[in-house]
Amino acid sequence: MRVLSVASEAVPLVKTGGLADVAGALPAALAPHGVELTTLLPGYPAVLKALGKGKAVHSWPDLLGQKARVLAGSLGGQPLLVLDAPSLFVREGGPYGDAGGQDWADNWQRFAAFARAAAELAVMQEFDLLHAHDWQAGLAPAYLRFLHGAKAPPSVMTIHNMAFQGHFGREIFPALGLPAEAWSMTGVEYHGGVGYLKAGMEAANIITTVSPSYAREIRSAEFGMGLEGLIASRGARVRGIVNGIDPAEWNPASDVHAPAQYSAASLARRRTNKRALEAEFGLDQDDGPLFIVVSRLTWQKGMDVAVEVLDHLVANGGRLALLGSGDAALVAGLSAAAARHPGRIGLKIGYDEGLSHRMQAGGDAILVPSRFEPCGLTQMYGLAYGCVPVVARTGGLADTVIDANLAALAAGVATGIVFTGVTQMSLADAISRAISLYRQPGVWKTMQRAGMKADFSWASSGALYAQLYQEVVRA
Ligand code: ADP
Ligand code: GLC
Repeated sequence: MRVLSVASEAVPLVKTGGLADVAGALPAALAPHGVELTTLLPGYPAVLKALGKGKAVHSWPDLLGQKARVLAGSLGGQPLLVLDAPSLFVREGGPYGDAGGQDWADNWQRFAAFARAAAELAVMQEFDLLHAHDWQAGLAPAYLRFLHGAKAPPSVMTIHNMAFQGHFGREIFPALGLPAEAWSMTGVEYHGGVGYLKAGMEAANIITTVSPSYAREIRSAEFGMGLEGLIASRGARVRGIVNGIDPAEWNPASDVHAPAQYSAASLARRRTNKRALEAEFGLDQDDGPLFIVVSRLTWQKGMDVAVEVLDHLVANGGRLALLGSGDAALVAGLSAAAARHPGRIGLKIGYDEGLSHRMQAGGDAILVPSRFEPCGLTQMYGLAYGCVPVVARTGGLADTVIDANLAALAAGVATGIVFTGVTQMSLADAISRAISLYRQPGVWKTMQRAGMKADFSWASSGALYAQLYQEVVRA
């Protein structure tokens, strides 16, 4: 089966978050199941550079008003298509906004062109199925449905985060090149404007999201963010498939970024990594617990609550190394805490892939106090690395971490600390629990080993996607 996977980011070419890890890992996860997954990416500068010359396979004199062509190449041995439209994608800054963090004003046009190209390619190149990821690809299923009708292959819409919906004003509708009938509640119209994610959810044959718990949660207003009604109406056509992690990238026994490699049988070697990490963050060297955070600094991730409990963390003998970027107010709050606690709290504001590996390899526990989390990858990296996750009971966090309650501890199956409700009190309490477990080295080691033994590879989720593709194509 040939599937066109349409995503706005994929490792190792372009990444702002977990979507890139997932889109980058899917082709290899599906290959053993007889599915050839071709990835379509926008031609950002880094993508074009990695592609090299590429082979032009199609061109448009006018794709939503812009000149564009498609270049073919490969990504980790799997087929890659790149939409080369310099006026839309070749700019300084990030994939969605300028260096100052301001969204590009023409994002509606950039990702409508991307989705339209995806739909046309899926038809022209006779793909069996189109798999759209997030709002940036959301219009692709709608273009298939409204412009290609019976010739269109079926489609799957995957929601990586309901908080990002791609909602634009009504005035863009005429420029999208969709027929008038698409302007309806079951088409692309959403609260008087155009909803890209909504459009994809309406038009796709199946909707998936990235964990079973999140698939349930988005049926409620709190997590559905306006689209809960649509989710509920699609009933069994909404599925949750938990993400895997890529063992080639995230394996403590072969991690190229960490000073010392180790496995569950050689946990003592983590000490070298811990010492190096303390030095890298300018922290005191001691054997007390070293917490880490690797995160976007946003409300979703509960970082405002984390800021409030740092005094408690330090007062109880903990230290924190944090790597992240995001909201200025959170950066200010974190910087103030670091200034109050020199040697105990270390910050690196920015984005650093290698450092994120060294932190998982040297930290004792990773804090993930998210208010919602469709899947979450950093807690799984923590599990694989023996960096015990302390997580909120939500979405994929609840699905991947086993709380150290008395029964789980007694059975030796606990892998982390799971707390309910993202409040100062519950997070402070979870940190206290982590510290007291850490002070019982035998118990802690059993937790580390249980996490490292758990299987978060793509093997089972790859099989679930393959099954789902079969189901959709045969329907
Ligand atoms: P989200 O996609 O919502 O940000 P995930 O947990 O799914 O959350 O994925 C985040 C990914 O981005 C992980 O691979 C994590 O290691 C990485 N990451 C987040 N912030 C940083 C940072 N400042 N530096 C390096 N990697 C980061
Ligand atoms: C989104 C979600 C995150 C998920 C990632 C990959 O960024 O916020 O929870 O892990 O997508 O699916």
